[in-house]
Amino acid sequence: MSREELAARRFFIHTFGCQMNVHDSEQLASIMTEAGYERAPDVSQAGIILVNTCSIRAKVAQKIVSQLGRYRRWKERNPKVIMGVGGCLAQHWGREMLVKAPYVDLVFGTHAFHEAPRLIDAVRAGGGPVLDAAFREEIPSLGIHAAVTNGNGTTKHQALVTIMQGCDNFCAYCVVPYLRGRERSRPAAEIVREVETLVGQGIREVTLLGQNVNSYGRGLREETDFPRLLTMINRISGLERIRFTTSHPKDMTEGLIDCFGGLEKLCEHIHLPFQAGSDRVLARMRRGYTREDYLGRIAALRRRCPDIAISADVMVGFPGETEEDFQATLALMEEVRFDNLFSFMYSEREGTEAASFGDKVPEKERNRRLRILQELQDRHAWERNRALIGKEVEVLVDGTSRNDPRELTGRTRTNKIVNFAGPLRLRGEILALRISDAYLHSLRGELKPPEALLVHKSPEAVHVHKPPEAVLVHKPPEAIHVHKPLEAVHVHKPLEAINVHKPLEAVLGRK
Ligand code: 5AD
Ligand code: SF4
Repeated sequence: MSREELAARRFFIHTFGCQMNVHDSEQLASIMTEAGYERAPDVSQAGIILVNTCSIRAKVAQKIVSQLGRYRRWKERNPKVIMGVGGCLAQHWGREMLVKAPYVDLVFGTHAFHEAPRLIDAVRAGGGPVLDAAFREEIPSLGIHAAVTNGNGTTKHQALVTIMQGCDNFCAYCVVPYLRGRERSRPAAEIVREVETLVGQGIREVTLLGQNVNSYGRGLREETDFPRLLTMINRISGLERIRFTTSHPKDMTEGLIDCFGGLEKLCEHIHLPFQAGSDRVLARMRRGYTREDYLGRIAALRRRCPDIAISADVMVGFPGETEEDFQATLALMEEVRFDNLFSFMYSEREGTEAASFGDKVPEKERNRRLRILQELQDRHAWERNRALIGKEVEVLVDGTSRNDPRELTGRTRTNKIVNFAGPLRLRGEILALRISDAYLHSLRGELKPPEALLVHKSPEAVHVHKPPEAVLVHKPPEAIHVHKPLEAVHVHKPLEAINVHKPLEAVLGRK
């Protein structure tokens, strides 16, 4: 096959936006692979570039436009390259995308991902630029399983699973309901089947996704709701961890709060956007809860599950937000002390209710408020992370750390990043680590001292020598030798004679 023919079959996906978009891109990769295409190792080897877009704030849209400009220059030098733009901004702009970016060959909206291969065929057949931004009653890509390998071919241990799409809330500032359409839930049995399949492929943690997962089940023929779905997923054997995002405070029921601490696989973390701390602003935003309601939910969650980590989204400078309103947001933060906070400056989005409000907050003031808010959050995050030093946490190892490839990285059940020294083969394992240091956005951990790791079945024959530098296990003379350091454990048979507990259990289980 010539280089050109090979490139024509290869695609590259560039994703902007939230986890929902990341997952849509994974589904798009599955759709493309199913249609006979393959992932390009990098963009320079791809004959098809697909940009999955986001439109939540004007700044993100600007970033996408600049990126499209860079791809345009690449395409000018490589005229055979096909360029597609899909997802939220594509839905938002529709046909206008082809006017604003005439070098784009195909545009596919949030309900048209499954059409990408057909649209590519149409472009190659010479029909000029093509567009599909139609809303559909049923979204065909909703049930498509995403690939469980990373772009680089390594196996993943965490997977995203869409349980519902769309939003019926119409918060006054938000474009999502206009771009993703009405709320639709997938049948529970279908979701359970997908999670079972994923577990069979080596997945240990799932994150259930939806714009508002708490209202899962509405509109389905079967009688179900989100706590029931969680209970079903919690029963899947081989699955170790469940997360979900995003929740809406107004739909945070007692039943859901009880799932924390009640379902052993449900991780001790919730992302619960509050957006603003002032009742006046919350009402204008049409959020459907008050500050007291929100704080009541947090208190109930903490009563049920004292160690729960709490993250949220918040916005400053919503039209009409006064200094007093802003202070109410800061006071709410002081009360809750979030582990992590995603903070945004209000951004006007065409077509939303708030775009018609007259009392805009000047950009300079929005900037000032954001800076003050972020300083406060940094203090809270720092204090909450520092409080973990010396504690033992359970970590699912993701892979190598982004900043230092000699280090491993993983996440605690509370969704905190922990970096630590260890061998690559621990990837995908669940380990106990002791936190040795803490920063604003991550923790540093150490593998637990080995004395806690080894227990043996035939005491008369197995000797465990103590750390730090030496763990030696001898079995009937020649049979078993376990050598430290932990990074280089060699185990010789017969294995059935030893019982090894964490985290060595994980290592030995692989042998
Ligand atoms: N301006 C600023 N932030 C917004 N968000 C949603 N719409 C806007 C907007 N118009 C934020 C909200 C939401 C998060 C995903 O993005 O905080 O929870
Ligand atoms: Fe947007 Fe509100 Fe729906 Fe969230 S709940 S997606 S903020 S409209």
